[in-house]
Amino acid sequence: MTDNASKSPAANGQGQAMWGGRFSAKPAELMQAINVSIGFDKRLWAQDLAGSRAHARMLISQGVIASSDGEEILEGLAKIEDELATGTFPFRDEYEDIHMNIEARLRELIGPTAGRLHTARSRNDQVAVDFRLWVRDAADRSAAQLVELQKALLAQAETYADALMPGFTHLQPAQPVTFGHHLMAYVEMFGRDASRFRDARARMNECPLGAAALAGSPFPIDRHQTAASLGFDRPTANSLDSVSSRDFALEALSAASITATHLSRLAEEIVLWTTPMFGFIKLTDAFTTGSSIMPQKKNPDAAELIRAKVGRILGSLTTLTVVMKGLPLAYSKDMQEDKVPTFEAFDALELSLLAMAGMIADLTPNTEKMAAAAGAGFSTATDLADWLVRELNMPFRDAHHVTGSAVKAAETKGVDLSDLSLGEFQAIEPRITDGVYAVLTPAASAASRMSYGGTAPAQVRAQIARWKETLA
Ligand code: ARG
Repeated sequence: MTDNASKSPAANGQGQAMWGGRFSAKPAELMQAINVSIGFDKRLWAQDLAGSRAHARMLISQGVIASSDGEEILEGLAKIEDELATGTFPFRDEYEDIHMNIEARLRELIGPTAGRLHTARSRNDQVAVDFRLWVRDAADRSAAQLVELQKALLAQAETYADALMPGFTHLQPAQPVTFGHHLMAYVEMFGRDASRFRDARARMNECPLGAAALAGSPFPIDRHQTAASLGFDRPTANSLDSVSSRDFALEALSAASITATHLSRLAEEIVLWTTPMFGFIKLTDAFTTGSSIMPQKKNPDAAELIRAKVGRILGSLTTLTVVMKGLPLAYSKDMQEDKVPTFEAFDALELSLLAMAGMIADLTPNTEKMAAAAGAGFSTATDLADWLVRELNMPFRDAHHVTGSAVKAAETKGVDLSDLSLGEFQAIEPRITDGVYAVLTPAASAASRMSYGGTAPAQVRAQIARWKETLA
C-alpha cells in the first residue's frame, strides 16, 4: 500500500482505493457498502493517532525512515488531531476505514512522504492495536465507574446500617436483615466486577503493533519501544496471534455482561421497592417519569432500562463470540465486525453504571415501612428455634418442629409469634419461659447475627469500614 499510496489517484477524486494498484475497475457500489467501516470505526481516531505516532517515532529512532520525513509525518498527524478534535476532519467513505482516512488526509497535508508511515506496518496490526487501546480504556472506565457506584452504595449503607428490612429467599420473607447489609451485598458484587475488568486489562496489555500483516517485518523495528510508548507491558509474542486474536474484547465483554447482570438485579429490586405495595424506597423526580394518561404514576424508568440493558450487552458478547468462532488464522475481514457490538455494549454499560450510581444516591428508604415488613411473615421463627436449641438443649430438628407448631398456632390466631401468650407457647412446649420474647423482635434477630459477614449492624459497619479503606 505504501507504494500505491503515493501514486494512487485516490486523493484526486477518481475514487480508486489506496490498495488499488492491481485493480483496474472500481469496486461495485454494494462491495463498498458492505466493506466500509468509517461510519463506526471513526471512534478509534485517537487510538489510531497514538499508534501512528508511536510507530513513526520508532521508525525514526531505528533509522527506518529519515528524521526529516518522520518529523513531517508527526507534524501532519498533529494537524489531523486538531481537525479531529474540533470536528473539521473530512471523513470520507471512499477511504473505507479510519486508518485509510487518516493516511489519505496526511497525504493531502504533507504529500507523498505520508506514504512512509505505513513502512513495516499493516492495517491488520494497526487495527489490532487501535482496538486494544480502545477496549483497555473502556475497561479502565468501567472499573472506575464501578468504584463510584460502590461509593454511592457505601454512603447509603452507612446511613442505614441498622435500618431493619425483611431479608428474602424465594422472594418470601425469610429473616430480618438491615438495609445497609442488603446494599453491601451489591458492594461485594460490584467489587468483583471491577476486579474482573482489572484482570482483563492485565491480560490484554500486550502490544500487537509490529506484527505487520501477519508474519512480522523485515525492517529493524523495535517492538519493545512501541509497546512501552503506548503503555503496554510488553509486545505480543506471536505475530499471527497478534493480528488474529480478539479474546481481549471477549473477556472485557464477559466482564461487562456479568456486571450488567448484577446491575439488572439491583435494578429489579429498585423496581420492586418503589412499587406502592412494597413502598420501601422513594426516588425523586430526578430518576422517575410520569405517565401520559395516569396522573398518579411515578415510574422507575431508569431502573427498568438498566434491567433491560443486559440484553444488549450479553448480545454483544454473543455476537463477537460467534464472529470469532471457526475463524482460521490469521486476519480475516470478519473481525471488522468486532467494533459495533463492543462499542454498543460499553456505551450501554457506561450509561447503566452512571444512572445506577445516580439512583442509589437519589433514593430515600421508608424505614418505618421496611421495619414493619421486617417483622411480618413470622420472620423470627428461626430465632425461636435457635432459642430452643440454646436454652433447652433441643436438637435443631426438634426445635424446628416445635417452632413450626408455634407458627401454625399464630397463623390460626391471625397474630405474630410475639403475640402468642406464654400459656400458648407452653401448650406446645412446656419448658418455654418468658425469656423467649427477647429473641422474637426483628431488631434482636438482626443484632444477634454477629457471625463474620452477618447482618448484625456491628458486622455491617465493620464491612463498610473495610471497603472505605479499600476504595480510599
Ligand atoms: N477496517 C479493518 C478492520 O476493522 C481494518 C483492517 C483491514 N485489513 C485488511 N487486510 N483488509 O478490521
